Amino acid sequence: MHVLILGSAAGGGLPQWNCRCPICALAREDETRVRPRTQSSIAVSPDGERWLLVNASPDIRQQLFDNPAMHPRTGLRHSPIHAVLLTNGDVDHVAGLLTLREGQPFTLYGTAGILDSVNANRVFDVMAAGVVAREPIALDRRFEPVPGLHVTLFAVPGKVPLWLEDETLEIGAETETTVGAMIEAGGRRLAYIPGCARVTADLKARIAGVDALLFDGTVLLDDDMIRAGVGTKTGWRMGHVPMTGAGGSIAALSDVAIGHRVFVHINNTNPVLVEGSDARREVEAAGWTVAHDGLTLTLS
Ligand code: MLT
Ligand code: MN
Ligand code: ZN
Repeated sequence: MHVLILGSAAGGGLPQWNCRCPICALAREDETRVRPRTQSSIAVSPDGERWLLVNASPDIRQQLFDNPAMHPRTGLRHSPIHAVLLTNGDVDHVAGLLTLREGQPFTLYGTAGILDSVNANRVFDVMAAGVVAREPIALDRRFEPVPGLHVTLFAVPGKVPLWLEDETLEIGAETETTVGAMIEAGGRRLAYIPGCARVTADLKARIAGVDALLFDGTVLLDDDMIRAGVGTKTGWRMGHVPMTGAGGSIAALSDVAIGHRVFVHINNTNPVLVEGSDARREVEAAGWTVAHDGLTLTLS
């Protein structure tokens, strides 16, 4: 199985267009200190030919340009992307669908809850009916979006997208609106969980023994954004478990057998983004990789 990290940053990317926090500033000044990163998306293939795109970020046009594996290969019009899967309805995971509108057939997969929020917005009709099929997938049902690649969606603690929040907001609920994907090919397993509010016993059991885990790396500590002085929201309020500190993912997953541990969906305020920082050293010493754009994993 081929895994290509197209975008490793959380919503906003790195640098974020309007942000002068020290990390965004460094990303503009010195790429050897902070590598710029695009927003959250991966591509997965059983054979390197046919790919499943998981999440469609606002930066998708740049991502498809930067990665030759994503270029058209045959005839006048072609894409190696056979299917697109959404793990939630966040802007950083759905806005890129608007770029995939040039009459290219593919199938769009997601839970009914996620697809409903996309379908409710008519701007997404640019993916024309009859060209882009939309296929709702029930939780815990194994399906095959690309020949030779099997996927199972499962609920993880989360919340509705920011743009759908209202007075009924519940954080940490396990529903169809925030899911992880277990992706299998050639006898190898990848768990992709870019958003998760809490590590539960169920989640640990689910991912035990995977060859690779790509996990929510939004914040180092629950109060990253407050420490950075750019906002008042905690990781919990945004539906993201911190890497470290109380209930952090590194400690919570330390006793789970996992081949490669990789943080993705990293917010621009997270100190692990600074090369050589104490925070980077700490997570690497715990056996984790901090993803960057273009990182590939080959599971065989
Ligand atoms: C998140 O991951 O918390 C969301 O992408 C936030 C957002 O939609 O801006
Ligand atoms: Mn996000
Ligand atoms: Zn910033």
